[in-house]
Amino acid sequence: MGPQLPPEVGALIGRSNRLGSDPRNTNYAGGNTSAKGQAADPVTGTRIDLLWVKGSGGDLGTLTAGGLAVLRLDRLRALTGVYPGVEREDEMVDAFDYCLHGQGGAAPSIDTAMHGLLDPAHVDHLHPDSGIALATAVDGERLTRECFGGRVAWVPWRRPGFQLGLDIAAVQRDQPDLIGVILGGHGITAWGASSDQCEANSLEIITTAQRFLDERGRSRPFGEVIPEYAPLPETQRRARAAALAPVIRGLASTDRAQVGHFTDAPAVLEFLAGREHARLAALGTSCPDHFLRTKVRPLVLDLPPAAPLDAAAARLAELHAAYREDYRGYYQRYATAASPPMRGADPAIVLLPGVGMFSFGADKQTARVAGEFYLNAINVMRGAESVSSYAPISEAEKFRIEYWVLEEAKLARRPPPRPLATRVALVTGAGSGIGRAVAQRLAAEGACVVVADRDGSAAAKVAAEIGSRDAAVEVTVDVTDEDAVAAAVAEAVLTFGGVDLVVTNAGLSISRPLLQTTAADWDLQHAVMARGSFLVSREAARVMGEQGMGGDIVYICSKNSVVAGPDNVAYGAAKADQAHQVRLLAAELGALGIRVNGINPDGVVRGSGIFAGGWGAQRAAVYGVPESELGAFYARRTLLKREVLPEHVAAAVAALTSGDLPLTTGLHIPVDGGVAAAFLR
Ligand SMILES: NC(=O)c1ccc[n+]([C@@H]2O[C@H](COP(=O)([O-])OP(=O)(O)OC[C@H]3O[C@@H](n4cnc5c(N)ncnc54)[C@H](O)[C@@H]3O)[C@@H](O)[C@H]2O)c1
Repeated sequence: MGPQLPPEVGALIGRSNRLGSDPRNTNYAGGNTSAKGQAADPVTGTRIDLLWVKGSGGDLGTLTAGGLAVLRLDRLRALTGVYPGVEREDEMVDAFDYCLHGQGGAAPSIDTAMHGLLDPAHVDHLHPDSGIALATAVDGERLTRECFGGRVAWVPWRRPGFQLGLDIAAVQRDQPDLIGVILGGHGITAWGASSDQCEANSLEIITTAQRFLDERGRSRPFGEVIPEYAPLPETQRRARAAALAPVIRGLASTDRAQVGHFTDAPAVLEFLAGREHARLAALGTSCPDHFLRTKVRPLVLDLPPAAPLDAAAARLAELHAAYREDYRGYYQRYATAASPPMRGADPAIVLLPGVGMFSFGADKQTARVAGEFYLNAINVMRGAESVSSYAPISEAEKFRIEYWVLEEAKLARRPPPRPLATRVALVTGAGSGIGRAVAQRLAAEGACVVVADRDGSAAAKVAAEIGSRDAAVEVTVDVTDEDAVAAAVAEAVLTFGGVDLVVTNAGLSISRPLLQTTAADWDLQHAVMARGSFLVSREAARVMGEQGMGGDIVYICSKNSVVAGPDNVAYGAAKADQAHQVRLLAAELGALGIRVNGINPDGVVRGSGIFAGGWGAQRAAVYGVPESELGAFYARRTLLKREVLPEHVAAAVAALTSGDLPLTTGLHIPVDGGVAAAFLR
């Protein structure tokens, strides 16, 4: 990209950001926009015609100049001379690379031809729910005429590609008064001589279509309400979702582990309460973007929300087996020798009438976006059914898109997953010190992290430091409180679909000689560390057992669990209790594939609230050193003479959980700089 961008490009980016930030205009990362203009050729100095078009990937709402592909318009249009016909249109995508102007822009997407072949200077291709509703109505062509008169034409379904670009360009040339087209089964394309005109035309199509649906549409497009499928009240709905989530995530992770997302948006509940929901869901989604994310169709539980949990879980397992069978059948019906191998037969969308929708993906963002896309699909079905009947593209066409070699190439270009990708971690006491470092490290390894702490604002701060809410969320919990622990784990399950990795780290330290140790000192430390770890492990193990995906539980114990440090009876005994829980639970939970290990840190002064909160001063006094030198003092006592930092403890958690020690359970790892008295034997 040259340093000076022509004004058309600034206008294009502004328009794209405005259009893309309103979900009524297009789905996340869906659609693309372009501008044609002139710039000086750095080689000849002459003015040349260029096309700036949103490249593959990325979202219109956040598009920047770096997300644009820049192509020579003369060369792009010259491709019509070598175009070998629709059967070989995919070859044209490689040819786009030979039309690029300079280096460094985004990769041209499949829709580049549509933008380049159309004459108007500005083009928007969008996936608005209202436009797709007309595009998927069985009589969409007639409805388009009725809705727009002669301003918008109908282009029958055709897979995105060079031929679709030629088709649209021909329609525009034949009917120069058009402002755009409805693309059957797919979306809309609008154009204009200026960026403002193009934006106005896009919005005119989207709002006119919506108004048409609103004015013409019948009420109850999803049919009469099935009384027993009406939504449960919110608290019960969420409790039921949390109770079923581990089972559902386990099923959806049969081929490979997936992260989950839950929503009980009113549109989902309304759809699932309607008598027609099962028929419509079975028809599947239509817009290529939609079903690539949601799979051809969702899995729909056919039981009311009042059904006993056991019955719902058993029925989900049956439906899942049938879903996989159907999916295999779909693959076998349409796959050719050239098709990529089957990518997995688990559903991406699971619908629970009266409760809500779970969506799944290889990470939280993918899972969340899959859910958003199904919401788009529900809006589309509502619109189409309100004025006509919903008729998505055929299954054969869906297969051609899902197993398109070009899609496969896109998947292959993705970076390899990080070691803890798909794993959901819950770290207690993660608002400070060691827990904070552990949460940060697990997130860096790709895990979704629930930052749990009694201090909710500290937890929120750590979660925000880690990144977006797809990466980390906070939950406020006192680990001594049985109900609060259950609620925190339920929150984790509703946020990410389940739990795979628990680090029980919350703790505190009160150092006193025996005769000055109060019963309250004893009780508090045992409540937070011994009882707290037990409660967290029990709740997590229940979820892990239901998921059937194994798991990891890591206890942050202490050197003091094995060494009889001075004046430390309550803390040391609580730590010894935790250490023995590791062995007991490793023995008990191995059959479920749950590994339980411990870490024995020592002298982690920096960042530790324990040390800052008085323990450091006490210890410094016991050892006769200034408090500021306590870390260095501890380091001198060690065999390796190095200070232990929270990051060292976090690294031990990562080593235990990120795949290199899959056969290790019941182990305690010292992270203490080397303390001979703490050697395990
Ligand atoms: N710092 C060390 O040298 C050291 C050495 C060995 C073991 N440990 C252990 O490591 C763990 C973390 O210690 P740290 O040094 O990072 O301390 P820290 O004080 O920095 O962090 C402890 C966190 O636990 C939270 N917490 C306390 N009680 C809780 C409760 N009831 N419910 C939920 N959260 C609660 C606190 O709010 C705090 O955010 C503790 O279990 C501690 O015993 C620390």
